[in-house]
Amino acid sequence: MSQTSATTGDGQGDFKLAKERRAFLGACLGALLAAGAGAAAYPVFRYLAPRQKADNGQKVEIPEAELTAGNAKYFEYQGKAAVLIRKKNGDLVALSAVCTHLGCVVQWQKANEQFLCPCHGGLYTADGTVISGPPPKPLEKLSFVVANGKIIVG
Ligand code: FES
Repeated sequence: MSQTSATTGDGQGDFKLAKERRAFLGACLGALLAAGAGAAAYPVFRYLAPRQKADNGQKVEIPEAELTAGNAKYFEYQGKAAVLIRKKNGDLVALSAVCTHLGCVVQWQKANEQFLCPCHGGLYTADGTVISGPPPKPLEKLSFVVANGKIIVG
């Protein structure tokens, strides 16, 4: 860039500076459009991507004593977030913690015994049923047994 020629007012420098500025702004606009296209395409990709294999025989053991009434215990199950809750009435529920809308991890709301998805406000009951928001279906239920003081999921 020729600062000197731009200040001399010979016209050639001004033209070159304007051309460089246009090229820079064009590159910025291109990068912005590419980022926007990527942001729009990502949810579509996540929706269409094949799910992971449903069963690889993995089991997760959680000591019963770790789960008191009204609380939730998050863990990883088959590579995805899962949650085990003990409702205030003592019932146990094991669910996938992955929101059925776009895959965010739902959060346990102890006070009202519901799951809230922080991404778009999807709301589920403690059993995973959709109450409101964009989730198209309930949270996936996980099978479990209780034996020898342990909750075994899977
Ligand atoms: S990802 Fe959970 S409501 Fe959208």
